Amino acid sequence: MKPEVLMTGPLTRQIREALSEAFQVYRLDKAADKEGFLKEIGSSIQAIATFGSASAELMDALPNLRIISSCGVGVDSIDLAHAAKKNIIVTNTPDVLNDDVANMAVLLLLAASRKLVANDRYVRKGKWAEFGDPPLANGIRGRTVGILGLGRIGGDIARKLEVFGCDIVYHGRKQQPDQPYRYFGNLVEMARESAYVIVICPGGKATNNIVGREALDALGADGTLINVARGSVVDEPELVAALVEGRLGGAALDVFADEPNVPEPLLAMDNVILQPHQGSATVSTRRAMGDLTVDNLLAYFAGKPVLTPVG
Ligand code: NAP
Ligand code: 8YV
Repeated sequence: MKPEVLMTGPLTRQIREALSEAFQVYRLDKAADKEGFLKEIGSSIQAIATFGSASAELMDALPNLRIISSCGVGVDSIDLAHAAKKNIIVTNTPDVLNDDVANMAVLLLLAASRKLVANDRYVRKGKWAEFGDPPLANGIRGRTVGILGLGRIGGDIARKLEVFGCDIVYHGRKQQPDQPYRYFGNLVEMARESAYVIVICPGGKATNNIVGREALDALGADGTLINVARGSVVDEPELVAALVEGRLGGAALDVFADEPNVPEPLLAMDNVILQPHQGSATVSTRRAMGDLTVDNLLAYFAGKPVLTPVG
Protein backbone atom coordinates (compact mmCIF):
# COMPACT_ATOMS: atom_id res chain seq x y z
CA MET A 1 0.00 0.00 0.00
CA LYS A 2 1.27 3.47 -0.90
CA PRO A 3 1.67 5.94 1.99
CA GLU A 4 -1.16 8.48 2.10
CA VAL A 5 -0.32 12.15 1.60
CA LEU A 6 -2.61 15.15 2.02
CA MET A 7 -2.08 18.14 -0.27
CA THR A 8 -3.40 21.25 1.46
CA GLY A 9 -3.10 23.59 -1.55
CA PRO A 10 -2.79 23.22 -5.33
CA LEU A 11 1.09 23.09 -5.36
CA THR A 12 2.57 22.71 -8.86
CA ARG A 13 1.70 20.16 -11.52
CA GLN A 14 5.26 18.78 -11.23
CA ILE A 15 4.75 18.11 -7.51
CA ARG A 16 1.28 16.67 -8.03
CA GLU A 17 2.56 14.26 -10.68
CA ALA A 18 5.65 13.20 -8.71
CA LEU A 19 3.59 12.67 -5.56
CA SER A 20 1.01 10.57 -7.41
CA GLU A 21 3.72 8.15 -8.57
CA ALA A 22 4.82 7.24 -5.06
CA PHE A 23 1.88 8.07 -2.82
CA GLN A 24 -1.86 7.88 -2.50
CA VAL A 25 -2.66 11.61 -2.73
CA TYR A 26 -5.70 13.35 -1.25
CA ARG A 27 -6.60 16.97 -2.10
CA LEU A 28 -7.90 19.01 0.81
CA ASP A 29 -8.04 22.08 -1.44
CA LYS A 30 -10.54 20.31 -3.73
CA ALA A 31 -12.85 19.17 -0.92
CA ALA A 32 -16.12 21.14 -0.68
CA ASP A 33 -16.70 20.01 2.92
CA LYS A 34 -13.18 20.09 4.37
CA GLU A 35 -14.23 19.09 7.89
CA GLY A 36 -16.21 16.09 6.63
CA PHE A 37 -13.36 15.14 4.28
CA LEU A 38 -10.83 15.21 7.15
CA LYS A 39 -13.14 13.10 9.34
CA GLU A 40 -13.41 10.55 6.55
CA ILE A 41 -9.73 10.21 5.55
CA GLY A 42 -7.88 11.91 8.45
CA SER A 43 -6.75 8.79 10.30
CA SER A 44 -5.05 7.29 7.24
CA ILE A 45 -2.93 10.38 6.42
CA GLN A 46 0.78 10.12 7.30
CA ALA A 47 2.13 13.17 5.47
CA ILE A 48 1.21 16.69 4.40
CA ALA A 49 2.56 18.46 1.30
CA THR A 50 2.01 22.21 1.56
CA PHE A 51 2.98 25.57 0.08
CA GLY A 52 3.90 26.91 3.53
CA SER A 53 1.14 26.53 6.07
CA ALA A 54 -0.04 23.91 8.56
CA SER A 55 -2.08 24.79 11.65
CA ALA A 56 -2.26 22.94 14.98
CA GLU A 57 -5.91 22.25 14.21
CA LEU A 58 -5.04 20.49 10.96
CA MET A 59 -2.33 18.43 12.67
CA ASP A 60 -4.84 17.40 15.34
CA ALA A 61 -7.29 16.27 12.67
CA LEU A 62 -4.64 13.82 11.38
CA PRO A 63 -3.79 11.47 14.28
CA ASN A 64 -1.23 9.45 12.30
CA LEU A 65 0.58 12.42 10.74
CA ARG A 66 4.37 11.86 10.76
CA ILE A 67 5.80 14.51 8.40
CA ILE A 68 4.98 17.90 6.89
CA SER A 69 6.89 18.70 3.70
CA SER A 70 6.67 22.38 2.84
CA CYS A 71 7.49 23.86 -0.57
CA GLY A 72 9.19 27.10 0.50
CA VAL A 73 11.86 28.12 2.99
CA GLY A 74 9.70 30.31 5.26
CA VAL A 75 7.93 28.31 7.96
CA ASP A 76 6.21 31.18 9.79
CA SER A 77 2.76 29.78 8.92
CA ILE A 78 3.52 26.29 10.20
CA ASP A 79 2.89 25.71 13.92
CA LEU A 80 6.38 24.33 14.59
CA ALA A 81 5.89 24.13 18.37
CA HIS A 82 2.80 21.98 17.93
CA ALA A 83 4.55 19.78 15.38
CA ALA A 84 7.48 19.29 17.78
CA LYS A 85 5.11 18.42 20.63
CA LYS A 86 3.56 15.72 18.44
CA ASN A 87 6.93 14.48 17.08
CA ILE A 88 5.95 15.45 13.55
CA ILE A 89 8.94 16.12 11.29
CA VAL A 90 8.84 19.38 9.29
CA THR A 91 10.92 19.92 6.14
CA ASN A 92 11.30 23.01 3.93
CA THR A 93 13.25 24.01 0.79
CA PRO A 94 16.24 26.19 1.78
CA ASP A 95 19.12 27.27 -0.51
CA VAL A 96 17.65 26.13 -3.86
CA LEU A 97 15.77 29.44 -4.07
CA ASN A 98 18.52 31.80 -2.84
CA ASP A 99 19.65 32.94 -6.28
CA ASP A 100 16.25 33.93 -7.66
CA VAL A 101 14.97 35.53 -4.45
CA ALA A 102 18.22 37.52 -4.20
CA ASN A 103 17.81 38.52 -7.85
CA MET A 104 14.32 39.81 -7.05
CA ALA A 105 15.74 41.97 -4.25
CA VAL A 106 18.44 43.38 -6.55
CA LEU A 107 15.88 43.89 -9.32
CA LEU A 108 13.59 45.83 -6.97
CA LEU A 109 16.48 47.95 -5.70
CA LEU A 110 17.66 48.82 -9.20
CA ALA A 111 14.11 49.43 -10.43
CA ALA A 112 13.35 51.71 -7.49
CA SER A 113 16.61 53.65 -7.80
CA ARG A 114 16.15 54.23 -11.56
CA LYS A 115 12.37 54.77 -11.33
CA LEU A 116 11.94 52.01 -13.91
CA VAL A 117 8.25 51.36 -13.39
CA ALA A 118 7.26 55.02 -13.02
CA ASN A 119 9.22 55.92 -16.16
CA ASP A 120 7.60 53.06 -18.07
CA ARG A 121 4.22 54.58 -17.17
CA TYR A 122 5.55 58.01 -18.18
CA VAL A 123 6.26 56.75 -21.69
CA ARG A 124 3.00 54.77 -22.02
CA LYS A 125 0.88 57.74 -20.91
CA GLY A 126 2.47 59.94 -23.60
CA LYS A 127 4.11 62.20 -21.01
CA TRP A 128 7.58 61.93 -22.57
CA ALA A 129 6.32 63.44 -25.81
CA GLU A 130 4.23 66.01 -23.94
CA PHE A 131 6.60 67.14 -21.16
CA GLY A 132 10.06 65.91 -22.20
CA ASP A 133 12.51 63.92 -20.09
CA PRO A 134 11.50 62.92 -16.55
CA PRO A 135 13.63 64.04 -13.56
CA LEU A 136 17.02 62.33 -13.11
CA ALA A 137 17.17 59.17 -10.96
CA ASN A 138 19.88 57.96 -8.54
CA GLY A 139 22.78 55.61 -9.17
CA ILE A 140 23.56 53.00 -6.51
CA ARG A 141 27.39 52.93 -6.57
CA GLY A 142 28.68 53.99 -3.16
CA ARG A 143 25.19 54.03 -1.60
CA THR A 144 24.71 52.22 1.71
CA VAL A 145 22.39 49.22 1.61
CA GLY A 146 21.25 47.83 4.96
CA ILE A 147 20.28 44.17 4.94
CA LEU A 148 17.91 43.05 7.69
CA GLY A 149 18.72 39.31 7.88
CA LEU A 150 22.12 38.39 6.46
CA GLY A 151 21.27 34.69 6.14
CA ARG A 152 21.28 32.36 3.14
CA ILE A 153 19.35 34.75 0.87
CA GLY A 154 20.59 37.96 2.54
CA GLY A 155 24.20 36.80 2.06
CA ASP A 156 23.51 36.22 -1.63
CA ILE A 157 21.97 39.69 -1.97
CA ALA A 158 25.03 41.23 -0.31
CA ARG A 159 27.47 39.47 -2.67
CA LYS A 160 25.45 40.48 -5.73
CA LEU A 161 25.22 44.13 -4.61
CA GLU A 162 28.97 44.31 -3.98
CA VAL A 163 29.39 44.00 -7.75
CA PHE A 164 27.31 47.19 -8.14
CA GLY A 165 29.66 49.03 -5.77
CA CYS A 166 27.20 49.32 -2.87
CA ASP A 167 28.39 49.72 0.71
CA ILE A 168 26.76 46.75 2.48
CA VAL A 169 25.80 46.83 6.17
CA TYR A 170 23.54 44.43 8.06
CA HIS A 171 21.42 43.85 11.12
CA GLY A 172 20.51 40.57 12.81
CA ARG A 173 20.39 39.29 16.38
CA LYS A 174 24.12 38.67 16.36
CA GLN A 175 27.26 39.73 14.53
CA GLN A 176 28.67 37.23 12.04
CA PRO A 177 32.47 37.41 12.44
CA ASP A 178 33.08 35.65 9.10
CA GLN A 179 31.17 38.36 7.16
CA PRO A 180 33.14 41.33 5.77
CA TYR A 181 30.22 43.79 6.16
CA ARG A 182 29.63 46.36 8.91
CA TYR A 183 27.26 45.10 11.61
CA PHE A 184 24.59 47.12 13.39
CA GLY A 185 23.17 45.67 16.60
CA ASN A 186 20.38 48.23 16.30
CA LEU A 187 18.00 48.23 13.33
CA VAL A 188 17.06 51.91 13.63
CA GLU A 189 20.71 52.96 13.61
CA MET A 190 21.30 50.85 10.51
CA ALA A 191 18.27 52.43 8.79
CA ARG A 192 19.57 55.92 9.65
CA GLU A 193 22.84 55.21 7.79
CA SER A 194 21.20 53.44 4.83
CA ALA A 195 19.83 54.71 1.53
CA TYR A 196 18.06 51.36 1.08
CA VAL A 197 16.98 48.75 3.61
CA ILE A 198 16.31 45.26 2.29
CA VAL A 199 14.16 43.08 4.56
CA ILE A 200 15.03 39.37 4.25
CA CYS A 201 14.70 37.86 7.74
CA PRO A 202 12.07 35.23 8.66
CA GLY A 203 8.47 36.17 9.47
CA GLY A 204 6.74 35.08 12.68
CA LYS A 205 6.32 36.34 16.25
CA ALA A 206 9.96 37.33 16.83
CA THR A 207 10.06 39.70 13.85
CA ASN A 208 6.46 40.91 13.82
CA ASN A 209 6.41 44.63 12.84
CA ILE A 210 10.09 45.12 13.78
CA VAL A 211 10.31 47.58 10.90
CA GLY A 212 8.04 50.16 12.53
CA ARG A 213 7.70 53.94 12.56
CA GLU A 214 11.09 54.54 14.15
CA ALA A 215 12.99 52.50 11.56
CA LEU A 216 10.98 53.98 8.67
CA ASP A 217 11.60 57.54 9.88
CA ALA A 218 15.30 56.73 10.30
CA LEU A 219 15.44 55.54 6.68
CA GLY A 220 13.73 58.81 5.87
CA ALA A 221 12.48 60.87 2.95
CA ASP A 222 15.50 59.99 0.81
CA GLY A 223 15.39 56.28 1.70
CA THR A 224 13.71 53.26 0.12
CA LEU A 225 12.42 50.13 1.83
CA ILE A 226 12.58 46.82 -0.05
CA ASN A 227 10.72 43.87 1.43
CA VAL A 228 11.20 40.37 0.00
CA ALA A 229 10.75 38.58 3.36
CA ARG A 230 7.25 38.59 4.85
CA GLY A 231 4.66 41.37 5.08
CA SER A 232 4.44 40.76 8.84
CA VAL A 233 8.00 42.04 9.42
CA VAL A 234 6.99 45.59 8.42
CA ASP A 235 4.27 47.54 10.22
CA GLU A 236 2.15 48.02 7.10
CA PRO A 237 -0.13 50.87 8.32
CA GLU A 238 3.01 52.74 9.46
CA LEU A 239 4.63 52.09 6.08
CA VAL A 240 1.60 53.46 4.23
CA ALA A 241 1.46 56.50 6.55
CA ALA A 242 5.17 57.20 6.08
CA LEU A 243 4.75 57.10 2.28
CA VAL A 244 1.55 59.18 2.26
CA GLU A 245 3.19 61.83 4.49
CA GLY A 246 6.46 61.82 2.52
CA ARG A 247 8.51 60.72 5.56
CA LEU A 248 9.76 57.73 3.50
CA GLY A 249 11.11 58.15 -0.04
CA GLY A 250 9.79 54.95 -1.60
CA ALA A 251 9.18 51.23 -1.28
CA ALA A 252 9.51 48.12 -3.40
CA LEU A 253 7.44 45.28 -2.02
CA ASP A 254 7.15 41.61 -2.97
CA VAL A 255 5.23 40.64 0.17
CA PHE A 256 2.30 42.03 2.18
CA ALA A 257 0.61 41.56 5.53
CA ASP A 258 -2.62 40.11 4.09
CA GLU A 259 -1.80 38.63 0.68
CA PRO A 260 -3.18 38.95 -1.94
CA ASN A 261 -4.64 42.18 -0.55
CA VAL A 262 -2.51 45.30 -0.98
CA PRO A 263 -3.28 48.55 0.87
CA GLU A 264 -5.26 50.77 -1.50
CA PRO A 265 -3.13 53.96 -1.12
CA LEU A 266 -0.03 52.12 -2.42
CA LEU A 267 -1.70 51.44 -5.76
CA ALA A 268 -1.61 55.08 -6.80
CA MET A 269 1.97 55.85 -5.73
CA ASP A 270 4.68 56.28 -8.38
CA ASN A 271 7.42 55.83 -5.75
CA VAL A 272 6.16 52.34 -4.86
CA ILE A 273 6.80 49.13 -6.81
CA LEU A 274 4.49 46.19 -6.15
CA GLN A 275 5.04 42.50 -6.89
CA PRO A 276 2.65 39.60 -6.18
CA HIS A 277 5.07 37.51 -4.03
CA GLN A 278 7.28 36.46 -6.94
CA GLY A 279 10.68 36.08 -5.22
CA SER A 280 11.12 32.38 -5.99
CA ALA A 281 8.71 32.29 -8.93
CA THR A 282 10.88 31.10 -11.82
CA VAL A 283 10.44 27.81 -13.64
CA SER A 284 13.87 26.50 -12.60
CA THR A 285 13.65 27.49 -8.94
CA ARG A 286 10.08 26.29 -8.49
CA ARG A 287 11.16 22.99 -10.10
CA ALA A 288 14.07 22.65 -7.65
CA MET A 289 11.76 23.50 -4.72
CA GLY A 290 9.26 20.93 -5.97
CA ASP A 291 11.94 18.24 -6.29
CA LEU A 292 13.10 18.87 -2.73
CA THR A 293 9.53 18.85 -1.39
CA VAL A 294 8.95 15.41 -2.92
CA ASP A 295 12.45 14.07 -2.16
CA ASN A 296 12.01 14.80 1.55
CA LEU A 297 8.86 12.65 1.56
CA LEU A 298 10.50 9.89 -0.48
CA ALA A 299 13.47 9.80 1.91
CA TYR A 300 11.23 9.65 4.96
CA PHE A 301 9.12 6.79 3.64
CA ALA A 302 12.27 4.92 2.48
CA GLY A 303 13.41 4.97 6.11
CA LYS A 304 16.24 7.44 5.36
CA PRO A 305 16.98 10.79 7.05
CA VAL A 306 15.02 13.64 5.46
CA LEU A 307 17.18 16.00 3.38
CA THR A 308 16.25 19.40 4.79
CA PRO A 309 14.62 19.24 8.22
CA VAL A 310 13.56 22.50 9.88
CA GLY A 311 15.38 23.26 13.11
P1 NAP B 1 17.99 32.30 6.98
O1 NAP B 1 19.14 31.72 6.25
O2 NAP B 1 17.49 31.61 8.20
O3 NAP B 1 18.37 33.82 7.34
C1 NAP B 1 17.57 34.58 8.17
C2 NAP B 1 18.38 35.77 8.67
O4 NAP B 1 17.50 36.57 9.47
C3 NAP B 1 19.56 35.41 9.54
O5 NAP B 1 20.66 36.15 9.11
C4 NAP B 1 19.17 35.81 10.96
O6 NAP B 1 20.30 36.31 11.64
C5 NAP B 1 18.13 36.92 10.71
N1 NAP B 1 17.12 36.93 11.77
C6 NAP B 1 16.44 35.90 12.27
N2 NAP B 1 15.63 36.30 13.26
C7 NAP B 1 15.84 37.63 13.40
C8 NAP B 1 15.31 38.62 14.28
N3 NAP B 1 14.41 38.31 15.23
N4 NAP B 1 15.74 39.90 14.14
C9 NAP B 1 16.66 40.21 13.19
N5 NAP B 1 17.20 39.31 12.34
C10 NAP B 1 16.79 38.04 12.45
O7 NAP B 1 16.72 32.45 6.04
P2 NAP B 1 16.66 32.55 4.44
O8 NAP B 1 16.70 31.19 3.85
O9 NAP B 1 17.66 33.55 3.99
O10 NAP B 1 15.16 33.11 4.24
C11 NAP B 1 14.75 34.29 4.87
C12 NAP B 1 13.26 34.52 4.69
O11 NAP B 1 12.98 35.00 3.39
C13 NAP B 1 12.36 33.29 4.80
O12 NAP B 1 12.10 32.93 6.15
C14 NAP B 1 11.11 33.70 4.07
O13 NAP B 1 10.16 34.25 4.94
C15 NAP B 1 11.60 34.80 3.10
N6 NAP B 1 11.48 34.37 1.69
C16 NAP B 1 10.69 35.09 0.84
C17 NAP B 1 10.59 34.70 -0.49
C18 NAP B 1 9.75 35.45 -1.47
O14 NAP B 1 9.25 34.85 -2.40
N7 NAP B 1 9.61 36.75 -1.34
C19 NAP B 1 11.26 33.57 -0.94
C20 NAP B 1 12.04 32.86 -0.05
C21 NAP B 1 12.15 33.28 1.27
P3 NAP B 1 20.44 36.16 13.24
O15 NAP B 1 20.22 34.71 13.54
O16 NAP B 1 21.81 36.65 13.54
O17 NAP B 1 19.39 37.06 13.83
C1 8YV C 1 7.16 30.75 -1.97
C2 8YV C 1 8.49 31.86 -0.08
O1 8YV C 1 6.58 31.55 -2.94
O2 8YV C 1 10.07 30.15 0.25
C3 8YV C 1 9.38 31.03 0.77
O3 8YV C 1 9.41 31.27 1.99
O4 8YV C 1 7.93 32.80 0.36
C4 8YV C 1 8.34 31.55 -1.52
O5 8YV C 1 9.46 30.90 -2.03
C5 8YV C 1 6.16 30.37 -0.97
O6 8YV C 1 6.66 29.45 -0.05
C6 8YV C 1 4.97 29.77 -1.63
O7 8YV C 1 3.85 29.94 -0.84
